[in-house]
Amino acid sequence: MPLDIIVGAQWGDEGKGRVVDLLAQRADFTARFNGGDNAGHTVTVGKQTFKLHLIPSGSIHPQSVSVIGNGVVIHPAVLLQEMEVLRSAGIPVNPQRFRISFAANLITPAHRALDAAQEAARGQDKIGTTLRGIGPAYTEKVSRAGLRVGLMLDPDLFRTNLQMHVERINRWLVDFYHAEPIDPKPVVQEYLGYASQLKDYIADVSGLLWDALKRGKCVLAEGAQGTLLDLDHGTYPFVTSSSTVAPGALTGLGLGFSFVGRVIGVTKAFQTRVGSGPFPTEIIDDFAIHLRGTGENPWDEFGTTTGRPRRVGWLDSVLLRYAVRVNGLNELALTKLDILSGLNPLRICTGYRSGGQYFAELPFGPDNLAQYDPVYEDLPGWEGDIRSIRRWEDLPAQARAYVLRIEELCGVPVRLVSVGPEREQVVEFA
Ligand code: GDP
Ligand code: IMO
Ligand code: MG
Repeated sequence: MPLDIIVGAQWGDEGKGRVVDLLAQRADFTARFNGGDNAGHTVTVGKQTFKLHLIPSGSIHPQSVSVIGNGVVIHPAVLLQEMEVLRSAGIPVNPQRFRISFAANLITPAHRALDAAQEAARGQDKIGTTLRGIGPAYTEKVSRAGLRVGLMLDPDLFRTNLQMHVERINRWLVDFYHAEPIDPKPVVQEYLGYASQLKDYIADVSGLLWDALKRGKCVLAEGAQGTLLDLDHGTYPFVTSSSTVAPGALTGLGLGFSFVGRVIGVTKAFQTRVGSGPFPTEIIDDFAIHLRGTGENPWDEFGTTTGRPRRVGWLDSVLLRYAVRVNGLNELALTKLDILSGLNPLRICTGYRSGGQYFAELPFGPDNLAQYDPVYEDLPGWEGDIRSIRRWEDLPAQARAYVLRIEELCGVPVRLVSVGPEREQVVEFA
């Protein structure tokens, strides 16, 4: 089956970019289906590190055509800048290799200003958004007032819609949030400029992928964020505004079920979260410093997009089982196993306790997650650096036992383990 889907199984930053890069070696297309430049996907190839926000992580492979689906919200300035970064690294970006869906939605400075005003108004209850305008852009899409990419093909209509959009958002900014309005004029000029730079990239991505799949080509769908940030299935309201789960790949690319093959959930060997919201297995002790790092290494737990320190904790298998269910995962990719080296014991949350009751599963999904105390199982840790290990049988016995226990707790196989950020730092098994 040639449509494989890769999604985050936790709260984002699981290492989706590096897994996509790895699998894109055999893909004809790599397709982003949700989110916007709130995402930051890191791909490390030798001495080069790419931090991609919008362009799919498979773009580094010469044979793979990159596409952005209708489910994505695009800030054109970020996109154009990213296109330049790739070009200056010697990666061709042209309409033969990169296409954007006419039905994707645009983000503007007005969306960003509204995101900031809404967060400020939430005060203590703020979501901790990336302030990239994601929520407001999706809100306009759902309210049927979105600025679709296809509008860029008709400058007059685009101008009118931009003007109305800024005026509409200004009413919220000024009347409701008592914030400064945005001047529509420069926004209109700026965006008309983007339209002329991007018009040749606009396509019917759904049709393009459908034709390719029918011809037996391989498409890799790349999710942004993670299951627990999904608008419907995440830790609402501390979520993002898009469908981050595997079925979102179908609606976000304009495809049905026919071609779906592997559904891969990427999970770290521990748990992280950036932004507000419940996190039952969060830790703040010395083990937390070990898991987070201090910022010296590029892989330490500081946000790729915002630089914020990530909250860290033990792996939560209750939430991982939930991710298996809502995504229909048929395999897991486990990242950052190397970070656990030197920690002893290792803990995995196997269930929750609340009000004297034990829960192996969540009674109402991740709603009211704050009320649960994790129940842990301790496993022995291992010493020594495992980053140079490439074969399963060469991993320390305790590391293998840890991985096997995750499989057992989740009921799906771990088909890939990564032990470092670089492309080849993986233990892959059939
Ligand atoms: P994404 O948003 O899911 O693509 O993940 P991010 O790129 O935001 O964050 C993952 C971070 O972990 C990046 O800095 C990666 O280079 C790094 N990384 C990925 N896999 C591994 C691994 O197995 N070991 C280590 N040490 N770092 C990794
Ligand atoms: P990748 O694709 C981790 C979080 C924000 C905030 C919440 C809502 O790199 O895994 P938003 O700006 O989307 O309205 O913020 O979602 N968030 C992410 N956390 N990784 C991401 O993307 C994220 N994208 C958004 O921190 O808690
Ligand atoms: Mg990230």
